[in-house]
Amino acid sequence: MSRIYNFSAGPATLPLVCLEEARDQLVDYKGAGFSIMEASHRGKEYDAVHNQAIENLKTLMRVPDGYEVLLLQGGATTQFAMIPMNLLGADQTADYVNCGAWAKKAIKEAGSVGRVNIAGDTAADIPTRMPANGALQLSDDAAYLHITSNETIGGNQYMDFPHSPAPLVADMSSDILSRKLDVNDFGLIYAGAQKNLGPSGLAVVILRSELAERVPDNVPNIFKYSTHIAANSMSNTPPCFGIYMLSLTTQWMIDRGGVEAMQAINERKAAKLYDAIDGSDFFTGTAVPEYRSAMNVTFRLANQDLEPLFIAEAAEQGMAGLKGHRSVGGIRASIYNAFPENGVEALVAFMQDFAEKNG
Ligand SMILES: Cc1ncc(COP(=O)(O)O)c(C=O)c1O
Repeated sequence: MSRIYNFSAGPATLPLVCLEEARDQLVDYKGAGFSIMEASHRGKEYDAVHNQAIENLKTLMRVPDGYEVLLLQGGATTQFAMIPMNLLGADQTADYVNCGAWAKKAIKEAGSVGRVNIAGDTAADIPTRMPANGALQLSDDAAYLHITSNETIGGNQYMDFPHSPAPLVADMSSDILSRKLDVNDFGLIYAGAQKNLGPSGLAVVILRSELAERVPDNVPNIFKYSTHIAANSMSNTPPCFGIYMLSLTTQWMIDRGGVEAMQAINERKAAKLYDAIDGSDFFTGTAVPEYRSAMNVTFRLANQDLEPLFIAEAAEQGMAGLKGHRSVGGIRASIYNAFPENGVEALVAFMQDFAEKNG
């Protein structure tokens, strides 16, 4: 077996041991005589997996009482719509921070439901960054304030979250469980699974229970958080295999010391890459240092014409997925929780070698 270093932004590297466990259990789940993929979602085998995944998330994030943990379909993009459908009343305004490509998509969906106020806008800034928290133009009586905690494309990440009298809603698709935070600071946290959690198509939503009561009657039931709360995320057939993988990856994180341990490793991995970028005129980071993402390390070569060669030669050496998003170009190394530290070291060595040869 040969596994490459996969720097893809998502779907992304999953813990090898979880993939191996899934492989070993694929045909016969714990002696049941069927795959978990074939198990009834009302049966005891799947039920245990489902509840374990939720329990693991609660443990890892120290989810306090008064919050719900939901496992929903449709990825993070469906949440771009579900959030305003549930939380934004017809006569209300929602504040949104526009800090990049993903925030923009969330804003567009909210705009089709109700009124949106752009509280801060750095989406066009290069180098990429987040708006200063103190400079946000918040509206009076906003339904909520929406942020993107980590912009996967721009490589800009919040270090300190803004405060607002309105509930804080955060798209944490690309940094959930990568660092410690206090769930109490948020009204709603959501994340597509395909970076730090498992396979795509699944979204984790953690919300303060009372927020689910805001939903207007005319929202279809399947898009109401209250429907999924009442059914423990089993109102219809859940994405069982994705949730099974989520149960394995979250268990892997718990076994390795939880979010604090993940954060320490993530900071070390990111520092190695940023040191390599800062240590050579050959490379330039594309995010303002105080907002540099520990998950998506974005940079350019001083001679951008060399970027295709950089990407091609890295791929030849078993390092794939380094091409920046098509909308911005450049290089992006996505190094989520499961990305191995020796893969980062391999990239650093390659960068130094490439700079020496082509500098
Ligand atoms: C920050 C962020 N939000 C939302 C999404 C969309 O997620 P999905 O494809 O699961 O809808 C992504 C996708 O990668 C993302 O990086």
